[in-house]
Parts: sequence; C-alpha cells; structure tokens
Amino acid sequence: MESLKNKIVFITGASAGIGKACAEAFAEEGAKLILAARRISKIEELASSLKEKFGTESFTFKLDVRDRKEVEKSISALPESWKAIDILVNNAGLGRGLNKLYEDDVDGWEEMIDTNIKGLLYVTRSVVPGMVERGSGHVINLGSIAGHEAYPKGSVYCATKHAVAAITRSLRMDLLGTGVRVSSVDPGMVETEFSIVRFNGDEQKAKEVYKGLTPLTGKDIAEAIQFCATRPPHANINEMIIMPSAQANAFVIHRESE
Ligand SMILES: NC(=O)c1ccc[n+]([C@@H]2O[C@H](COP(=O)([O-])OP(=O)(O)OC[C@H]3O[C@@H](n4cnc5c(N)ncnc54)[C@H](OP(=O)(O)O)[C@@H]3O)[C@@H](O)[C@H]2O)c1
Repeated sequence: MESLKNKIVFITGASAGIGKACAEAFAEEGAKLILAARRISKIEELASSLKEKFGTESFTFKLDVRDRKEVEKSISALPESWKAIDILVNNAGLGRGLNKLYEDDVDGWEEMIDTNIKGLLYVTRSVVPGMVERGSGHVINLGSIAGHEAYPKGSVYCATKHAVAAITRSLRMDLLGTGVRVSSVDPGMVETEFSIVRFNGDEQKAKEVYKGLTPLTGKDIAEAIQFCATRPPHANINEMIIMPSAQANAFVIHRESE
C-alpha cells in the first residue's frame, strides 16, 4: 500500500457528500488537500475542522467547474508549493430532474452537461500536463452505474456518465507510459445531497429514493477511492462499481416494506 502522507490531493466538489467524505478520508492519512466548490463557506468550514482533527494543511478556493476561464485561472494560480498535484478526484457533479426526455427541462441538461462532462474536462486539462511533466499522478473520476446502463427518465444524466466512462478510458490510453494513472469509481445509490439537488430541494422526494433500503454513504465511496489511490505504482484500478447490497442494477432494487 502506498502512503498518502504529504501527497497533494485535489478534490472538486468537496463541500458535500462524496467529495467531503474523500477530504476526511485523505486527511486522516496525512494528505495535503486542495478543496474547491461553489459553496466556499462549507469548504472553509471543512478545512478548519480537518486542521483541528488531523492537523491537515489545505488550500481552498471557490470554483464553479463550468467556468472554463475560472478553472484555468485558479489552477494556474496555485501557489508554487501546491502545484505538484499527486491525485485529482474529479468529483463535482450532479443530476438535475428525473423526467421523460421529451418532457424534461432543457436548462437541467445544460447544467449536467456543463458540470459532469465539460467541467471535468476543464479541470483535467488544467491538472494533467503537470502530472505528465513530473512523470507521476493519478486521476480518479466519479462515474456512476449510470455510465454503464441507461435508465428511464435519466437520459441526460446517464449520457453524461457514459461520457465520463469514455473520457476515463481514452485518457488512460493517452497517458500510457507517462506514469499517470486513471481510475473511475462508479457508485449506485449513495445517500448524499445528490437526490435533494436532483429534485430541486424537495427533501421528501429525495428520501423516497432510499426508502426501505440501506444506501451507500459518502464514506463507503471515499474508502473505495482511497483504495484506488494507495495501490503501488505498477497497479491500477481501472474501474470499480459499487452498489448497496439491496441494489442489483439501476432498476432492480430490494426494498423492505414497513
Ligand atoms: N449520490 C449518488 O447516488 C451518486 C451515484 C453515482 C455517482 N455519483 C456522483 O458522485 C459525485 C458526487 O456526488 P454526491 O453524491 O456527493 O452529491 P452531492 O452531495 O450533491 O455533492 C456534489 C458536490 O459537487 C459540487 N458541485 C456541483 N456542481 C458544481 C460546480 N458547477 N462546480 C463545482 N462544484 C460543483 C457540489 O458543491 P457546490 O454546490 O458547493 O458547488 C458538491 O460539493 C457526482 O459526480 C455524482 O454524479 C453520485
């Protein structure tokens, strides 16, 4: 197992859910963290709690991954001592709405495509050249089971996660021989803010998603990401699919009745 001590880990979307759980897991192992998201107050709160708990050094900034110029500017403006990113966790992402394609809100499509695909590409394009130059690095993308199968009312979210799967596979080929590894961690149902965001703040509707089953937690996924990040340099986890035990695929779910 490779040590994470003093490794520089950049986590996008670290203000909640899986990203926040990753920050906690990497901090516990002694990593130095670059934490970004739009809700900067949540990022700052997290950084100060990790400082208190583990003595973690963090560099924080407000970032909307959809804004190409902002992504390029903030990554190129990282202080010298934070530039040598060892691990990039491309986590920022969302689902918006769960509707039949022909009735769906087009603004939600733009938001998902701009965040899940274009945002991930902008960040990757800004970070990976440095990794190649240094001859080492690891990109870990948050895919989804929606990148392996399609489900009704999820056409655009599924399309974005299929795109992440394709980007992951192509990038791995592009980086062959450079010392930079590429993995994807692809969860099923994880109870985070994901469903609250998907249903535009409707917490009741979000709760229904996990009714009668024990969903995964952000921590479950963070542990999987950490496993990928701690393989020795000759080994790469290409992709990891993780679901709650009560979920067989996107549609086959066992729910205990009340
Ligand atoms: N939960 C699941 O069931 C599940 C399953 C499979 C895959 N995933 C994937 O896992 C990743 C994390 O999701 P989660 O479940 O942890 O959801 P979450 O709790 O809603 O967290 C999403 C994170 O992404 C950030 N984010 C969203 N849009 C952003 C933007 N434009 N710029 C920067 N940051 C942005 C959010 O921060 P701000 O709002 O502060 O910007 C937040 O920190 C996503 O890529 C998601 O597609 C989730």
